Amino acid sequence: MAYLSLNLAEELGLSREEKALCFTSAIVHDAGVSTWREKKPLEAFDVDNPWDHCRRGHQLIKQANCLQPAADVILSHHDSWRGPNPSGRAGEDIPLAARIIHLADRLDILLQYERCILDQWEDALKRIKDLAGELFDPRLVSALESLARKESFWFDLMSPFMIKRLSELVETMPFAIGPEELRSLAGLFAAVIDAKSPFTYHHSRRVAGVAVFLGEELGLKKEELAVLEVAGLLHDLGKLCVPDEILEKPASLTPHEYNVMKQHVYYTYRILEDAGGLGPIPAWAGYHHEKLDGQGYPFHLKDEQLSLPARIMAVSDIFTALREDRPYRLGMGKQKVTQILTGQSKNGALDTRVVAACLENFERLDSLFSAPRKEDIPADFPEK
Ligand SMILES: [Fe+2]
Ligand SMILES: [Fe+2]
Ligand SMILES: [Fe+2]
Repeated sequence: MAYLSLNLAEELGLSREEKALCFTSAIVHDAGVSTWREKKPLEAFDVDNPWDHCRRGHQLIKQANCLQPAADVILSHHDSWRGPNPSGRAGEDIPLAARIIHLADRLDILLQYERCILDQWEDALKRIKDLAGELFDPRLVSALESLARKESFWFDLMSPFMIKRLSELVETMPFAIGPEELRSLAGLFAAVIDAKSPFTYHHSRRVAGVAVFLGEELGLKKEELAVLEVAGLLHDLGKLCVPDEILEKPASLTPHEYNVMKQHVYYTYRILEDAGGLGPIPAWAGYHHEKLDGQGYPFHLKDEQLSLPARIMAVSDIFTALREDRPYRLGMGKQKVTQILTGQSKNGALDTRVVAACLENFERLDSLFSAPRKEDIPADFPEK
């Protein structure tokens, strides 16, 4: 979708800044959708009610400072050209990037990636052309028509070379990500991950908070604490790859479901590693199910292969998860949490010093990051 949007932007001769806005908006356009349940109906060409996720995405993106301009685009990314739309906009009043993303998104849905593209693009284009002036901006439909004449445009879209082409297009753009931008992006991702389930609402943000607190207690430097916070916010990024039914199952997981669940931490590590330039963040985030005795997963690291921040993350995640309600049990009390953490520290799975710091500060951590309250969850949180 980002590839289609950027090609349209290029075809229209947009500036570097406008193209950058199209790209960032395309990447985060469905930030308001976390659950597979809500994603499914959006995969049909005609969507009955796309507005909830537009509004929710708008709210989320607004909170990430470096993405502010994209918030307005997200609000209107399903607006029809002719209107009326809940945003109150129509025609040229709809941000251009939103019109581009709308067209690219709907085109993407019409294409079947397992079929030869040359057998299908004309039908898809016809469907889009029939809606020019109604659903889509006619100028954009014309731009798509000229792009569509080149087979290479379609071949690039469907082939593994698409990522390379996309990187070439993105390379020319003015992106600068400093620590503050990274923190606000991580906060955005955390909100999207946590919204997968009311049971984990605030989980990533709480784990990040617990980790920073323990990191400070255990003498990490200020700069390390900032990185640790980002790693905490992103530690469950891979949960976006796990089906809702498994995350919310109100009973123990079957061996198969547990295997699927285990993948989340692998994806956290690989996605962050693949993003590049994130220093120790992939390790500090992606090792949170590793154990010092080598019995964790997915890499079975042990002892000195696990740095202090990675050990802090592991304890922070367990502490937070035990205190939170889950679909199959209520949050555990102090006695039970102490028993589990002490047990894992004694048998060599968790770092003794980190566990001690956690238990010594139980009340403070608990008061700072108490179990999720119903009123914290937005009223339009997707129903189960
Ligand atoms: Fe959407
Ligand atoms: Fe996890
Ligand atoms: Fe977690």
